[in-house]
Amino acid sequence: MVMNNYSDQQIGKDLFRFIKKRSKKNNIFKFAWLKNQILKISIQDKNLQTQLFRFVDVLPCLKIKDQRLDIFLQYLQEGKSFFYTPSLLASQTPVIREFMDWVINFSVKELAKTFICGSNIHEAKRSIQKLSLKNQKYTLDLLGELTLNEREAEKYFNDYKKLIKEIPLAQLSIKLSAIEPHLNLMNLDAQKNNLLKKLRELFRLAVSSQASINIDTEHYYWKDFYFSILKEILMEEEFRSWTGAGVVVQAYLKDSQKDLEDWIIWAKKRESPISIRLVKGAYWDYEYAKSKQQNWDCPVFTKKFQSDMNYEKLSEILLDNYKFVKPALASHNVRSLAHAINYALKKNIPKSAFEFQMLYGMLDELKDYFSQNGYILRIYLPYGDLVQGMSYLVRRLLENTANDSFLRQGFLDGSSEDLLLQDPGSLALDSSEKPVDKGFQNIANLDFSKSANHQKILDEIKNLNNEFKVPVKYPCLIGEQKIFGDKFFESVNPAKPSQVLGLVSYGSLQDCNKAVSVAKETYKKWSQYDFLKRADLLRNVAQEIEKNRYRLIALICLEAGKPWSEADGEVSEAVDFLNYYAEESLEIFSLNKLRSLPGEKNYNIYQSYGVSAIIPPWNFPFAILVGMTGAAIATGNTAVIKPSAQTSLIAFEFVKIFNKVLKTKGLDQFLGLVNLITGEGKLVGNYLVEHPDVKLIAFTGSNEVGMSIYQKASLSRPPKRVIAEMGGKNAVIIDQSADLDEAIPGLIYSAFGYAGQKCSAASRAIIHQNIYQEFLERLKQTLPEIILGDPALGQCYMGPVIDANAMIKINNYINIGKQEADLLIGDLAIPESGYFVSPTVFVNVAEDSKLAQEEIFGPVLVVFKANSFDHALSIANNSSFGLTGGLYSRSPNNIKQAIEQFTTGNLYINRPCTGAIVSRQAFGGLKNSSIGFKAGGPNYLLQFLQEKTITENTMRRGFAED
Ligand code: FDA
Repeated sequence: MVMNNYSDQQIGKDLFRFIKKRSKKNNIFKFAWLKNQILKISIQDKNLQTQLFRFVDVLPCLKIKDQRLDIFLQYLQEGKSFFYTPSLLASQTPVIREFMDWVINFSVKELAKTFICGSNIHEAKRSIQKLSLKNQKYTLDLLGELTLNEREAEKYFNDYKKLIKEIPLAQLSIKLSAIEPHLNLMNLDAQKNNLLKKLRELFRLAVSSQASINIDTEHYYWKDFYFSILKEILMEEEFRSWTGAGVVVQAYLKDSQKDLEDWIIWAKKRESPISIRLVKGAYWDYEYAKSKQQNWDCPVFTKKFQSDMNYEKLSEILLDNYKFVKPALASHNVRSLAHAINYALKKNIPKSAFEFQMLYGMLDELKDYFSQNGYILRIYLPYGDLVQGMSYLVRRLLENTANDSFLRQGFLDGSSEDLLLQDPGSLALDSSEKPVDKGFQNIANLDFSKSANHQKILDEIKNLNNEFKVPVKYPCLIGEQKIFGDKFFESVNPAKPSQVLGLVSYGSLQDCNKAVSVAKETYKKWSQYDFLKRADLLRNVAQEIEKNRYRLIALICLEAGKPWSEADGEVSEAVDFLNYYAEESLEIFSLNKLRSLPGEKNYNIYQSYGVSAIIPPWNFPFAILVGMTGAAIATGNTAVIKPSAQTSLIAFEFVKIFNKVLKTKGLDQFLGLVNLITGEGKLVGNYLVEHPDVKLIAFTGSNEVGMSIYQKASLSRPPKRVIAEMGGKNAVIIDQSADLDEAIPGLIYSAFGYAGQKCSAASRAIIHQNIYQEFLERLKQTLPEIILGDPALGQCYMGPVIDANAMIKINNYINIGKQEADLLIGDLAIPESGYFVSPTVFVNVAEDSKLAQEEIFGPVLVVFKANSFDHALSIANNSSFGLTGGLYSRSPNNIKQAIEQFTTGNLYINRPCTGAIVSRQAFGGLKNSSIGFKAGGPNYLLQFLQEKTITENTMRRGFAED
């Protein structure tokens, strides 16, 4: 056979010859005719392909026959498929409906069987026997990935243990996400201990049963964490000499070479080998999209040849180190395999020292090549329930049909062997990266999978705790002056109310007058200042905030009781607001959107109002404050900020940063641009609103206060401009096609993130009756596992509510609920000190009850059962608010209907209903929720301006200007 002076291409041709001999009529995909046709048609039509894969994904959830066919038709229609009309017509007759339903169900099951070796352990065992007759090894994968709670994870864990006990010398591939339900990304320490405990038990059993366990690698976010745990446990004395463990390195990751080299160094130290499986990686689409959404560096290579090249390089490193690790090369790419075969031949690496691995049902025609030529081949055998298997099936379908996939190019598109076997390195020559988009970019949130970020926040919390040891007095900031009041109030840490963070001045009415007068004076210069320079100032402030990111996170965490990631999100949002409004202001002031004609010139001039009162809430004490202030000053207004009393120190920090930037940029003349009056809302807030020199009010808070501001502003002559965000009673609908694995964590985050104190938080869940019981059961298992505690420690999912008043008010609602409805979840253990309220869920709630209608602003969720989608929408719309709404559904028709009929300012589909991002989700509501255009959107700034239109006749005795 092959000799070691062959090229990769020649070996590749040998492999192709083998494949051709085995394949009958080149039918590499052993699907029945129907399935094969569906796959081919879908490959030609990308849109149809997406819809078909979506249908496959949703199918196991559709337990009712009629629904299956209806949703299938909806997807066909979405795919604008030619098959839609005949199918629709045919589906009108009951007999044909019945038949079509059978065909659909049968086809998807058959498709699944191609990649899944059985639905139970007996079928899996039969597959293992068949492989052993062919001298092929196996690794068994129990289908199922994400688990939501400890009970679900325990089931997987017990199943793994059962497999080890039941199958002699069992070879397993397991996923850590199946045995560790990770709701909280912050809680790495606790999760580490939990995982170590479970893995020790499993590995102990594996050692005593001489079983092997390979830990599959999943998403990049968890990779370093998982690797560090595995390195730790496999170095423990008890497991140090065990050679049955294995890990996976994904060559599509840019840092995979380092991963591999680290594993090899580690294995040398350990002095007994583990198996290292080299794959390209199964989650490319996810990793790429996720990094774009988060604005993180993309962890995966973005060109296919880069992954191929890297795979070849890593194959060489792996094979070179066969004495320290057991190389396992997993691929279905003939070129990648040929390269590894050739390299091993050249380096005289014994065939027994490494193995090839392939997936069940993929490129079966090549599999015998390995056993016939003395190589070890191991087949990855997934088995289990079809429902759990769907995400696996969708990954395999994608892999077979993606444009760049070797299997698709080789066996469906019919690319030439020469092309398929070319050196991926040769493609590097004509690679060119796309130019970077220079427009507004959201800044990235912190990556909490990096422990360095945890440490920096902990350091800042320590610094602030030291600073706050002896609480200092905080003045009002007016122009260049610090004005201390006669009286002070305490700002406290809501998680530890005995910790006083600062003593804040009660601003007086004279202070208000002074602040307005300084702002008015500064307005004369600021309104005339070049708009380009105004935008520059905003960007400079944004940069300074970024520099102080960790300190600000720590402060928001201590004063507002926000968990780290929520506080981090606020800092990002504040920076985004400033950069975005800077950019938007340039457009407003430089573009003329009116039409001019020959002889007639038309244009708009935008003029600012003057002094604005900025009244932000305590629940987004930094982001909203910065956003509203930024909008005012970007448009040439000046500002007097009246922050919420509970979060005065955060406001103080912002004005301090702002004034520091003015000074360092030599702009001292504008020190009265942003002024801060702390104190009592009823006194100074109202006074500012009614002050004759305040022309514009930007407010975010309760509907009651918002409406009273609106009323007062309307009495002024001319009436003052009011922009107001005023809360919600937000509903999330979960229909019967929803993926509960996504919907439950999404709802929990929407309702209990920041203890339900976001105006966008979900407070009503509306569940279709067909999944109602299952939903309640899983929610009941999952919600009590979220961690409540002091946000400063960094591990908690949910912190305290803002103050004692809020706690009392929320508990009053809970007491009403206990009388008027049924408590599903509540009275959970809460920390003894601090303003904590138990996450609470009620069922059997009357639609018009207080609980269902009033904004509670706390961790209280009411759940309704809907008997149809129309019913669900009618419950959702039965509210005087209309801020955010959520929908979990995979029915195209329901999604369309919700888009048209859900009366909500922001509708979030198949994701949590909180967490709007500047420029992507402009934020603001309908009905009683808002007055004005949405924050972070293209129309927001216009509200801070008055529009003057100029029309000039430019005709002069027959001479017209163009
Ligand atoms: P092929 O050469 O067609 O490569 C396809 C791959 O290229 C994609 O999967 C992706 O990784 C990459 N790619 C696609 N588009 C790209 C682009 N634009 N830029 C850069 N790269 C791109 N996976 C995993 O993540 N964790 C695991 O634990 C395992 N375990 C496992 C075990 C076994 C035995 C096998 C055979 C496979 C796995 N896999 C896996 C799945 C594996 O990652 C997947 O099968 C391979 O990525 C497919 O690569 P091939 O070389 O077969 O095909």
